[in-house]
Amino acid sequence: MIAKGFNFKLPTEIEFGPGSLTRLPEKIAAFNTNKVMIVTDPGIVKAGILERISNVLTQAGLRYAVFDQVESDPSTKTIEKIREMAKQEEVDLLVAVGGGSSIDAAKGARVQLANEGKLLDYAGLNKVKNKGVPFIAIPTTAGTGSEVTIFAVLTELDQNLKFTIASPYLAPDLALLDPELTLLLPPMMTAATGLDALTHAIEAFTSLASQPICDVLALESIRLIYKYLPQATTNGTNLEARTEMLKAQLLAGAAFNNTNLGLSHAIASPLGGHFHIPHGIANAIMLPYVMNFNVPAGPEKYVKIAEAMGICLIGKDIYEDAYEAPKAVERLVVLCGLPRKLRDAGATEDKLDDVAKDALKSGMLKFNIRKASEKQIKEILLEAF
Ligand SMILES: [Fe+2]
Repeated sequence: MIAKGFNFKLPTEIEFGPGSLTRLPEKIAAFNTNKVMIVTDPGIVKAGILERISNVLTQAGLRYAVFDQVESDPSTKTIEKIREMAKQEEVDLLVAVGGGSSIDAAKGARVQLANEGKLLDYAGLNKVKNKGVPFIAIPTTAGTGSEVTIFAVLTELDQNLKFTIASPYLAPDLALLDPELTLLLPPMMTAATGLDALTHAIEAFTSLASQPICDVLALESIRLIYKYLPQATTNGTNLEARTEMLKAQLLAGAAFNNTNLGLSHAIASPLGGHFHIPHGIANAIMLPYVMNFNVPAGPEKYVKIAEAMGICLIGKDIYEDAYEAPKAVERLVVLCGLPRKLRDAGATEDKLDDVAKDALKSGMLKFNIRKASEKQIKEILLEAF
């Protein structure tokens, strides 16, 4: 392989461990703030997690306001409401609590609080001019990795448009990861978010922008997810499995923050748009088919993925060994009780042409290890249907 240079960034401080929520007040105090705003969703309220966080803040004598109406696929309208409330309450630090949606909504609010105009003006890479208020992210899924990434995926409802803002100013100042907060995550959510994290790790490792630091992070993430996701899914109270899964998705997030993603994510996005298939489930279904398609472009990479998962390889034929990787991912999807086919997740065949067209527009395609045409994407979709 030709030697190439690389750059690695991880702008977010990480505080990780069971019980680390108790360290939130001292972490907030370090930012010298007057009033905190918690940004979260109704599911977090229902699960009692907001109450736990409120108690920690109250006992520490910290002042806070709560916005608890973030929806999945957060819209610019919701972010507008967060901004208005943040101004009214005169808060000077944001704490996002939840999955990718709450964290991305808070990222959007941070941009809006410090920059003029509409959020859509900042779509794309490095368009945000001002960093804005300090920002702490507390993930409750394992997960999107959003607590350490520079990306926010937001929705403009009027134009029925999903767009991504990418800027180092979106990366939280601190990610506080307490696995105890993930213990109540239901099996399907655990499985779907875990397969999303696996897709991040595999697409980071096989990205055309892959690099040595991210390779190490991605392979360890793959190893942990293959071992622990079935345990976390089938026995949610297994703290060891929850801890390893939260760590694994963090490693994957730190990796893809630098390498970008690939064809599975390029397809998952329009699958969400056309059929409302949840992001993690769309990736779980597509990933094995995308890997099968990608193998000829870099079989040694897929052999390493299979090795990381602990698959016993024969070592006679590189392709035979490489194709063990997608087989293992498919096994994991089945073990975790997720659908294997698009038709089982609500997709209809008549719209697959549109999905292929939309996937082709994704910026992630240029990082995929194998170049894919619209016709090839349609064929992959039909296989997965
Ligand atoms: Fe993802």
